[in-house]
Order: sequence, then C-alpha cells, then structure tokens
Amino acid sequence: MTTKPLGVGLLGLGTVGSAVARAFADRSKRVDAAAGRTVRLLGAAVRDPKKARDAGDIKITGDPFEILDDPEIGVVIEVIGGHQPAFDLLLAAFERGKHVVTANKEVIAKEWDALHEAARLGHRELRFEAAVGGAVPVVRGVMELGAIRPRVLRGLLNGTTTYICSRLESGVSFGDALKEAQAKGYAEPDPTNDVDGFDAAYKLSILVSLLEGRHFRPDQVRRTSLSSTTAAAAAAAAARGARIRYLAVADFGDKATKCRVGPEEVPADSLEGRATGPTNVITLESDMADRLVWSGPGAGGDATASAILADVIAIARVMR
Ligand SMILES: NC(=O)c1ccc[n+]([C@@H]2O[C@H](COP(=O)([O-])OP(=O)(O)OC[C@H]3O[C@@H](n4cnc5c(N)ncnc54)[C@H](OP(=O)(O)O)[C@@H]3O)[C@@H](O)[C@H]2O)c1
Repeated sequence: MTTKPLGVGLLGLGTVGSAVARAFADRSKRVDAAAGRTVRLLGAAVRDPKKARDAGDIKITGDPFEILDDPEIGVVIEVIGGHQPAFDLLLAAFERGKHVVTANKEVIAKEWDALHEAARLGHRELRFEAAVGGAVPVVRGVMELGAIRPRVLRGLLNGTTTYICSRLESGVSFGDALKEAQAKGYAEPDPTNDVDGFDAAYKLSILVSLLEGRHFRPDQVRRTSLSSTTAAAAAAAAARGARIRYLAVADFGDKATKCRVGPEEVPADSLEGRATGPTNVITLESDMADRLVWSGPGAGGDATASAILADVIAIARVMR
C-alpha cells in the first residue's frame, strides 16, 4: 500500500455530504483496502457552520476555500448542488490541482465542456457517477460501451415522479401525491426540478453526452410536466394493462438524436411499471450489445454516497 494518505474534502454536508462523512467514519478500512492506500476525510465546507448535523466528528468551515486551499486535500467532493456557486468552486478546485467528484447533475449537464476542459488542462480526474442513478453504476456502465451504436435509451431517472405516478394509481390527486412526496423527503420544497422534468433532463443529457462523446445540452431535451397528469388518467391506463411513468427517452436516429422527458404509458408488469419510489431503471438498446438494463436505488444519502466513494476509490487507484 502507498504510505502517503490521500486527503479528501467535502463541499456541502447536507443529505448526501453527511452520508459520505458517516461512510468515511464507519468503513474506512474497507475504503482503504479498495483504494490500495489510506484515504482520509479532512474537512467539510457548509453554508451555516452552526447547524446541527449527523455527520460524525468532522472539521467544519464556512469558507469553501479552506478546503480548496488545503495542500493535504487531493480530492474535492462537491455536494452543494445547483449551478452556482458550485461551478466556480469546481473550476477553482481544478485550478488548485485537485481531483473532483460531484453528485451535481445540473452543473455537469450545463457545463459539460468547461468542466471537462478544466480537468484536461489540469491533468486531473472529473468523476460524477452519483449525478445519475444514485447507487446504480450507470455512468461507468455507459462509459464502458465506447464501440456500440446506441439505438434507444429509456429510463426512470427521477424517484419523485415515480412515487407521484404510483400514488395517482391509488386514486390520490396530483396535489396530495406531491405533498406526500415532500413529507417523505422525496421531493424538494420547490418541486419544479422534479415535476417539470429539469432533473430528468439533466440526467438524460449526461447519459447522451457520454454515449455520443460530445455535449448534448439539457435544453435540447423536450420536457413535458407531470403536473397535468390525473388519477383518472392513471385509472384509464390501468384498464389497458398499463401504468403512467415519467420516462426519459433518447432516440438515436441516423441524422439526429431526439430526447424527451414526460409522462408515458408503460406495461404494468415491466420493470418501469413495477417501480414505485426511488428505484431507477435504465435500458439501453444498441447494435452490438443488444439490450442492457441497469436498476436500483436512484436517490437517498447512502445510495448516493456509495457512488461518490466508488469515484474517490477509483481516483485513489489511478494515483497509486
Ligand atoms: N439527496 C439525494 O438523494 C441526491 C441523490 C443524487 C444526487 N444528489 C445531488 O447531490 C447534491 C447535494 O444534494 P443534497 O440532497 O445533499 O443537498 P442538501 O441536503 O440541500 O445539502 C446541500 C449542502 O450544501 C451546503 N451549501 C449550500 N450552499 C453552500 C455554499 N455556498 N458553500 C458551502 N456549502 C454550501 C449546505 O450547507 P448547510 O448545511 O449549512 O445549509 C448543505 O450542507 C445535489 O447536487 C443533488 O442533486 C442528491
């Protein structure tokens, strides 16, 4: 094992960041063994350092540059979310020679070229497994498929909308289903990102960009909101042996790739039809690899932390 420990710093210590910190505390031996060297979490930057949190014994600062400027930190994990200040902080991390791991689908989907270029210029790793599919290793999965010609990618990429669809089937109104999703912590207080399809569009943009090897912008994804879907529509679908699910679809035509997210009918007994909550399902059809399916927990602190730690471990192995 390499003797010098690899230092890691967190930007953000909310649902996901706290789960990452707890995982570092609970399973450091396992992480070190997988990484082939000692990996240590050295601190976290937050907005409000006085807030109580379930993140173990970790050094907390209100200044992200205390993490970015720490010479002991080689890997920065960004779990703040949103476009700014995350984008500027990620660029600052590369400028300071740090490797970057992020769960932030919005900044990756919008700033694909700038972030990849910053990583390339700095000879550093940019990893974002947790940005799509939570614990499901679908980012790595599609990256391993460089030779295929994709035909269709379809998936459930957003747990909030799957939960709402499943409640509509039980006769609950859209408004009540949304309130339930918020009470369970699935939907954010401002549910626009989930219900109007921005979240699914960011994730679809990332998968298509990986498959095409160039940026497919999230604003090229046609979005239809779930908000006008009713319990009556769900009942009518059920009478046809179908279920409504909020699907993300990429159609890789000969001339142009067309992407959409919105409510569509799927067979009730399909993997998508049977999903009721944060389970994500991603199916890829291609010429050489036929039909590949990934499925599993697409959200939640621990599931997302699993993907983040896998990225940190992969970086530690490259640096060995
Ligand atoms: N939650 C999930 O299940 C899930 C799944 C997959 C991916 N993700 C992604 O993971 C990221 C984090 O999500 P989350 O659910 O953990 O969010 P969250 O609970 O809202 O946590 C955000 C964290 O960022 C901190 N923060 C906000 N602005 C900051 C700033 N300017 N400087 C430093 N820290 C700042 C907050 O500090 P305070 O604590 O002091 O407010 C908080 O600790 C997002 O990109 C999200 O899309 C989440």
